Amino acid sequence: MSSTTTASDLVASAEALVETGRKTIADAGSLAELDDVERKLLGKASPLNEIREAIKSVDASERGAVGQAMGAAREALTEALAARRGGLSAAARAASLVHDRLDLTLGGSGYRRGHMHPVTRIWRELEDVFVGLGYTIAEGPEVETDWYNFEALNFPPGHPARAMQDTLYVKLGKPEEVLLRTHTSPVQVRVMEARRPPIYVVALGRTFRRDTLDARHSPVFHQIECLTVDRGITLGDLLGTVEAFIHALFGPNISARFNPSFFPFTEPSVEFSMTCVFCEGAGCAVCSRTGWVELGGAGMVDPKVFEAVGIDSEEFTGFAFGFGIDRVVQLLYGVDHVKNLWDGDVRFAAQL
Ligand code: PHE
Repeated sequence: MSSTTTASDLVASAEALVETGRKTIADAGSLAELDDVERKLLGKASPLNEIREAIKSVDASERGAVGQAMGAAREALTEALAARRGGLSAAARAASLVHDRLDLTLGGSGYRRGHMHPVTRIWRELEDVFVGLGYTIAEGPEVETDWYNFEALNFPPGHPARAMQDTLYVKLGKPEEVLLRTHTSPVQVRVMEARRPPIYVVALGRTFRRDTLDARHSPVFHQIECLTVDRGITLGDLLGTVEAFIHALFGPNISARFNPSFFPFTEPSVEFSMTCVFCEGAGCAVCSRTGWVELGGAGMVDPKVFEAVGIDSEEFTGFAFGFGIDRVVQLLYGVDHVKNLWDGDVRFAAQL
């Protein structure tokens, strides 16, 4: 500025600076651009600074007016900058909400839904079938006493029938008093102790035997037990009920066959088989060409058992049957070795 500059010139240029400054501020299109504009308008090399330099050349008495104009200009520009900055950052935030959005509902590269273990699935199907026939579900402990697992079921101490069930004893009570149940039949005793006939129950659960693992045996397995006690129950009811659940589970082409057998807690006792599901009775490798596969044991409740639980065997009769659930699963899904069911290999279970 020249030495002829007057105070009013400086005041006027300060005012003009506000005018043009506001325009540049409004024109700034981004926060970065606005930072640039701010440096130019208020920084060391700004026109405002030039006015401050020029103030020395005006009369001391007029310097106050120039100073005031400068201050007003700085304030006006600062305000305009702040307002624009607010507007720009709101716009930037809105834009980033649109562009940088993270879609948490978006799947990865695909995932598969799991499913129930095949034994659980058949377990539930069996429950459904029997509930459909009017039965209720009963439960008993996996760790049992000799009384429930053997004694009350008419296995006398030392009886050879006990030896058939390779028992796992637990270190509790007297020697050989507490054990892992070898079948679900002790639930029969518990139910009959707890309620009076009519009784229509099924009990499903884990059972244990000191068996060596092979294709069809596992020390831990599952059984279903059926118990029916009422007035006038006959062997015909047993045969009809077994046939009914086999039809319900496997369809009308699969039927039941009975052979005489022995269990201490049923009299008479039978073993029952069903038509081989693979060949429908024609004979194949699975059924050793017989057309039948053995399923389980059954019979009419022995009067000795009724006596042990205090039910009058003159008034009531009943039947019971039991079979292995894992075995049914193996048959249905063609699982050649039982260990495949329990190895926990997802690739195996996912096929079933
Ligand atoms: N509990 C017998 C077993 O495990 C099966 C069975 C149940 C037999 C009910 C008769 C009646 O071999």
